[in-house]
Amino acid sequence: MADFVRIVEVGPRDGLQNEPAMVATTDKIELVDRLSATGLRSIEATSFVSPKWVPQLADAAEVMAGIQRRPGVSYPVLVPNEQGYERARAAGADEVAVFTAASEAFNRRNTNASIDESIARFEPVMARARADGVRVRGYVSTVLGCPYQGEVPLEDVVRVARRLHELGCYEISLGDTIGVGTPRKARAMLQAVAAEVPMQALAVHFHDTYGQALANVAACVEEGVRVADSAVAGTGGCPYARGASGNVASEDLVYMLHGMGIDTGIDLDALADTGRWLATRLGRQTGSKVGRALEGA
Ligand code: HMG
Ligand code: MG
Repeated sequence: MADFVRIVEVGPRDGLQNEPAMVATTDKIELVDRLSATGLRSIEATSFVSPKWVPQLADAAEVMAGIQRRPGVSYPVLVPNEQGYERARAAGADEVAVFTAASEAFNRRNTNASIDESIARFEPVMARARADGVRVRGYVSTVLGCPYQGEVPLEDVVRVARRLHELGCYEISLGDTIGVGTPRKARAMLQAVAAEVPMQALAVHFHDTYGQALANVAACVEEGVRVADSAVAGTGGCPYARGASGNVASEDLVYMLHGMGIDTGIDLDALADTGRWLATRLGRQTGSKVGRALEGA
């Protein structure tokens, strides 16, 4: 069997949470449905955070009600606390993602809580999810640097990732929120975490602020990770991380992985079409180099 990397498409959530303009709910629904037709298995559909904090995704329940759920595709949603979990469940979510950070300063700005306080908020979420048969993914942000604190010690990344794993998250996504990482550092970070949390339970999540995201994923894939997050058209960023820019573009990631002889199950042309379609809805060119290269090809 060919080597396989599962891509977690975060465009509808990470991609749209940082857009200056409001995207129509119907476009968000169309985006998720187009993505699920490309062969993607995991599509983070929206987030049930405070609409005061992220007004761009205030229509999360409408998005969940409007999408067509394809068998075999999971549609996780971001939840910061029990209230978010309740809203997500009421909207029919059967997978959720909780999020915290390796940096106190960033976590405070992003969730108005210390790392420990944010993890305490997850405990009731985890208990209810276990009882409801809901899978929970966990994010650790600022694994390679923080916009407020600067350097982030590796032991903090390892400690928070291990804690999320112990709490019951089936997968921990390691986020370079502001895209400052470079391949050797990314690889060393993954190695350090994988010494404490099984590699099969890890994913990587790179933003492309300094143009390093694809190289970082390549280094981590060589190190053994088999799950990577990305956003179609290279959208994305965190409104509470100064200077953060788009995620690695899904089209670029798929092109690279296929070129490395690694299967993703994704139809690259359909994905690139979706990225160009999204870019027109956002009023700009796609942020994916592969998406532009394939245009009209
Ligand atoms: P808070 O203001 O401290 O919350 O925010 P609170 O518990 O004190 O409640 C205040 C008000 O918010 C109350 O309403 C609550 O009902 C309401 P009021 O009584 O004032 O009318 N509230 C909610 N409403 C709807 N849904 C909820 C919810 N919770 C409380 N779930 C909170 C704390 C965590 C809620 C807030 O800080 C928040 O929503 N933060 C999220 C910010 C965010 O979404 N950031 C981006 C996602 S993370 C990311 O992008 C990084 C990632 O991509 C990985 C990487 O790149 O590194 C994942
Ligand atoms: Mg992100």
